Amino acid sequence: MTVKLGVNIDHIATIREARKIREPDPVAAAIIAELAGCHGIVAHLREDKRHIQDRDLKLLRGTVATKLDLQISTNPEMVQFAINVQPDMVTLVPENSQEITTEAGMNVAAKIDEISKIVMTLKNNDIATCVFIDPETEQVKAAKKVGADFVEFNTARYATACDLGSIQEVNREISSIQDMTVLAKKYGLRIIAGHGLNYRNVEPIAAIEGIEELNIGHSIVARAALVGLENAVKEMLDIIRRATP
Ligand code: PXP
Repeated sequence: MTVKLGVNIDHIATIREARKIREPDPVAAAIIAELAGCHGIVAHLREDKRHIQDRDLKLLRGTVATKLDLQISTNPEMVQFAINVQPDMVTLVPENSQEITTEAGMNVAAKIDEISKIVMTLKNNDIATCVFIDPETEQVKAAKKVGADFVEFNTARYATACDLGSIQEVNREISSIQDMTVLAKKYGLRIIAGHGLNYRNVEPIAAIEGIEELNIGHSIVARAALVGLENAVKEMLDIIRRATP
């Protein structure tokens, strides 16, 4: 089965918010990404609303024909907003207002009660649930415990190792994502991976048996600025298809 591609459109909104005007519209970007063949649209509504806005999600809910994955923190206001919007899935991510981008996976193991309640609330509202975690045994076990449907493995450590050119570190990260994919599958969890993936480093992750979907944002939007979004999405899909086991 081909690994699916979820396109994260946050950085289309980042460009718009740089001028606080109407363009470019992430809703239009989502339509183009879907027409280019992606399998889902991902948007992170941050508490500081630095890129995606409430309005974007409301419109995206009416236009996305594939799968709408809304990434939010565990803040109760965010959870209520998600219930109002009714995305296909909510991914819970940790949030720190000072960070440039999400810095690490969520420490689900340290917040079992809080996250279990949120997962149950979302499920009772017919929304699938995912937790963004580092590929670690303790976190996979915690994801199972809180009742999540999916885990999204944070590939940031892998991406950084690729940037640093440290083969040993790259191999260690690939092995840990592979091992945690096996463990997560054993627990009946479904597996997504993402963060920092790009046209140069995506292949080994797309080749891991058991990963269903990759969520990719910055590298696709960066390439889109030069070659257009349709081409950028198609190029990424080609690489993922070729690498799929
Ligand atoms: N998954 C999660 C949970 C994220 O927070 C992000 C970044 O917003 C991504 C995937 C996409 O990461 P990138 O923009 O580095 O491809």
